[in-house]
Amino acid sequence: MLKPNKLANNNFLSSLDLSTDEVFHILDLANNFKNKKISVDLKNKVLGLIFEKSSTRTRVSFQVAMSRLGGTTIDLDPTTSQIGRGEPIKDTARVLSRYCDAIAIRTFDHSNLEEYAKWSTKPVINALTDLEHPCQALADFLTIHEEFLDFKDVVLTFIGDGNNVANSLILCGALLGVEVRIACPRGYEPNSLVVKKAYEIYKNKDLLKITNDPNTAVCGANVLYTDVWSSMGQEDKKEEKDKIFSGFSIDNDLVSKAEKEAIILHCLPAYRSKEITDEVFESKRNRIFDQAENRLHAQQALLSCLLI
Ligand code: CP
Ligand code: NVA
Repeated sequence: MLKPNKLANNNFLSSLDLSTDEVFHILDLANNFKNKKISVDLKNKVLGLIFEKSSTRTRVSFQVAMSRLGGTTIDLDPTTSQIGRGEPIKDTARVLSRYCDAIAIRTFDHSNLEEYAKWSTKPVINALTDLEHPCQALADFLTIHEEFLDFKDVVLTFIGDGNNVANSLILCGALLGVEVRIACPRGYEPNSLVVKKAYEIYKNKDLLKITNDPNTAVCGANVLYTDVWSSMGQEDKKEEKDKIFSGFSIDNDLVSKAEKEAIILHCLPAYRSKEITDEVFESKRNRIFDQAENRLHAQQALLSCLLI
């Protein structure tokens, strides 16, 4: 029976905290969890959850993952704990390290997450920051692998904002050697340091393309992926971004230019008639709810490796 290996890094702040072998190992473990071929006992282990932004999938999938592994979670609501009253991160991190075995954090600035990791003596997991959403990328590539059985000929095209989800797809894609294309409006490209890092990792530099033309980006693609145009924290930019992104909606016309059997992914929550039409969202090509389910399996795998 496959067993979780300890990861070289104590934290999972970025997709880059994993090596290529470790990503493959986590995907393999996740598949085993999904098919009930593995059992790991994290009895008495406690995962602390700090969510400074809303969450449905990430919060619940971490809670259920810990429960299935025999452990528990504590969900610290920033508004009813001292976190929301400005207690320094370095104090919160040192205190929680005395109670919890790991902490998953969703926050705004990535540097806040790094500050937690600096002071915590227990593993810190990125549950989404403005820069990255690495747990999402693990579930995304698990879903893609389930569909195509390997990554060799996969072309993943992300259409929309070059945001946290796009950044993690790029980095995880680079580790796995998957062709990733990002099509976004000018000025909304993914983080330049992320792109630079990814180019350093890719053996074949042609496998990463950033473009402002969704129509060419979908040609030959077998995975079409999108996310909200305005991420959490950008509510005041919504009206402006809705106009700028109007040509970047995944609709039937765009889907018809991709590979015939292309699948549709979305990390959710989705805004129909914005980044994706209802028709495409509900079409038989959608693997969106398998992708959401896979958050649970991928995180069971991740937690097993961080907490053994
Ligand atoms: N995809 C995702 O992270 O969803 P939540 O915001 O609901 O956690
Ligand atoms: N880019 C989105 C992802 C939500 C899961 C956000 O940050 O709001």
